[in-house]
Amino acid sequence: MAKYLVTGGAGFLGSNIVESLVANGDKVIVYDDFSTGSKKNVQDYKQTEVRVVEGDVCDEKLMRKAARGCDYLLHLAGRAGVEGSVKNPDATLKVGFEGTLNALTAARDLKVKRFIYASSCAVYGESPVLPKEETMLASPYNPYGAAMLIGEELSRVFYATYRLETVCLRLFNVYGPRQSHVGPSSSVISRFCAAILKGEKAEIFGDGKQSRDFVYISDVVEAFRLACTAPKAEGEVFNIASGSRMSVGGLLSGFTQLLEKEILADTKEARPSDVRHSLADILKAQEVLGYRPRVTIAEGLAKSLLWYKKNLGKELKGAPRL
Ligand SMILES: NC(=O)c1ccc[n+]([C@@H]2O[C@H](COP(=O)([O-])OP(=O)(O)OC[C@H]3O[C@@H](n4cnc5c(N)ncnc54)[C@H](O)[C@@H]3O)[C@@H](O)[C@H]2O)c1
Repeated sequence: MAKYLVTGGAGFLGSNIVESLVANGDKVIVYDDFSTGSKKNVQDYKQTEVRVVEGDVCDEKLMRKAARGCDYLLHLAGRAGVEGSVKNPDATLKVGFEGTLNALTAARDLKVKRFIYASSCAVYGESPVLPKEETMLASPYNPYGAAMLIGEELSRVFYATYRLETVCLRLFNVYGPRQSHVGPSSSVISRFCAAILKGEKAEIFGDGKQSRDFVYISDVVEAFRLACTAPKAEGEVFNIASGSRMSVGGLLSGFTQLLEKEILADTKEARPSDVRHSLADILKAQEVLGYRPRVTIAEGLAKSLLWYKKNLGKELKGAPRL
């Protein structure tokens, strides 16, 4: 049994990680300001399993207090989403820099065994070269990617300077249960699920041929667990993805097959901030972490749709039979 501090533990990724840690018998402290995360995601645990601290990662004293006695610090508190970062770069960059610095400093001073940082494929920026390998130049082109890269650089520097064991996971397009279907933390899959279940058209930006490397949440949870203990992972950066890509139009076809019913699209103008294609090389994570993505996109879409059907509650009227 180990003790974990999970910042952003009430959010999509964080709460799924917390659930898996508790199932493993570990003790967890969730540290979250609930700006996008939900109390519902963390309220059903016993106090002996999960302690919730409501606070901002930029609050140095509170962070340090919360991290006391922890073996691992998983840092997932951040402002998700490119669009929000373009509108309000200060907020995104403040949490990326100050929040990550506070978390790293607490981890170093309190002798945490390992610090795992949730980074993003957004650090690769606009380069059309595929697949993305960790050795490629990181060159973000929006404030969100810059905030993620700042967190990575701070993590690398804390390893190089203080020998705090840090591991950065560059997450590609994660989807699955508990992902919001509205707002900055939503994704194309969560929005499609909600639209389909409400009997609405699925909104597509551009021609739908843009593609992403979609990875199901349970595979990402497993990557965080492996990153905590894998030998030779410290000081390193890893792509975490499925290693294959799917177009946005292909997702709609996937849902059509699943439901045996045509899903109509509502086509909007392409968004200039979107990269055309994204795909990860996951060889390094496979070799060093022993990471193996297990959930196929067809399985992941089916599981997601079921989850939204159960959880969207009153928002649904006339949901199709699944
Ligand atoms: N979901 C993805 O596909 C994906 C991909 C790459 C990287 N990431 C990164 O992983 C992290 C988690 O993403 P998510 O999808 O779970 O988003 P999320 O919005 O569901 O979770 C973020 C959590 O952090 C909390 N938070 C935000 N600012 C905070 C602050 N200042 N102090 C304390 N808590 C704060 C929020 O309340 C929320 O619970 C984010 O940094 C995101 O950028 C996510």
